Amino acid sequence: MDRRRFLVAGLGLSVVGILGSSLMIPETSIAQAPAASATADNVRKARIFITGSSEGLGKLAAQTLLADGYRVVVHVRSPARLSAVQELVNKGAVATIGDLSDLTQTRDLAAQVNKIGPMDAVIHNAGVYTGPAILTVNVVAPYLLTALIQRPKRLIYLSSGMHSGGRASLSGMDWTGKTATGSYSDSKLFVTTLAAAVARMWPDIYSNSVNPGWVPTKMGGSSAPDDLRLGHLTQEWLATSNDAEAQTSGGYWFHQKREKPHAAVLDVQFQTQLLDELARATGTALS
Ligand SMILES: NC(=O)c1ccc[n+]([C@@H]2O[C@H](COP(=O)([O-])OP(=O)(O)OC[C@H]3O[C@@H](n4cnc5c(N)ncnc54)[C@H](OP(=O)(O)O)[C@@H]3O)[C@@H](O)[C@H]2O)c1
Repeated sequence: MDRRRFLVAGLGLSVVGILGSSLMIPETSIAQAPAASATADNVRKARIFITGSSEGLGKLAAQTLLADGYRVVVHVRSPARLSAVQELVNKGAVATIGDLSDLTQTRDLAAQVNKIGPMDAVIHNAGVYTGPAILTVNVVAPYLLTALIQRPKRLIYLSSGMHSGGRASLSGMDWTGKTATGSYSDSKLFVTTLAAAVARMWPDIYSNSVNPGWVPTKMGGSSAPDDLRLGHLTQEWLATSNDAEAQTSGGYWFHQKREKPHAAVLDVQFQTQLLDELARATGTALS
């Protein structure tokens, strides 16, 4: 593979690109350099990968976990979005890149993460509310990353209260994102089902989904009524806490309390249909 250096404009951040592929790996990822401010204590702390950490809840979770001394791997969709995580990188985060609406880039992203080393937790946070890529970004990408990233101890998937309005039907879904088929609610029902299916299939890890509430981010809008801090607290807690409740699996959580999800989420037949569909759509089975 032909490796060439690129300098990302305005960042002074050297990255290595692999020609013939969209992959751009920040050099810090390859070097696995510890943060300049890292102490012997926080180097031992858990390492957490958060998708969609350029904005909103993903960025806020990354900020909080970094401030608490955790090792954080952030993610942006393109080299142009690296500037959005520059401050986090300056504080010791490692950056990864990949557009989750593109299967090839999502595979590249999984390879970048595996190159950094094993994660203790992955927060599947990135999401979109509108557009044809809803199913690809909100469902296919978390599925593929789950299948390809070396299995962490804890997996957290961002759901939504709106998942309860989703249709428990997979017929006619275009997982490629070429045409708009599933709604946002459908996508959140599917990703919540994915979290429950993973919990059932992999009993040695904790897999959970989180409804963050309706909070004021780019997606939620400035008039969203719920508490922004509570919007990222539960996923941080599930990713890191030694509380007995945080070390459980198969839950659908809202503000650190388990709630009852849509009935289809716990329907083993629907879980199996979903996993089969996603395996067919991606050519990668979850085993
Ligand atoms: N906000 C709410 O009220 C609310 C309620 C229920 C559930 N949620 C869920 O919570 C999660 C976070 O939401 P949020 O409110 O923080 O949203 P947000 O502010 O819109 O941030 C979404 C993040 O996902 C990234 N992303 C979107 N599409 C991507 C793609 N194709 N490739 C790579 N990254 C992509 C965005 O990157 P860019 O910055 O480059 O766009 C951004 O970092 C989502 O899963 C959402 O569905 C939010």
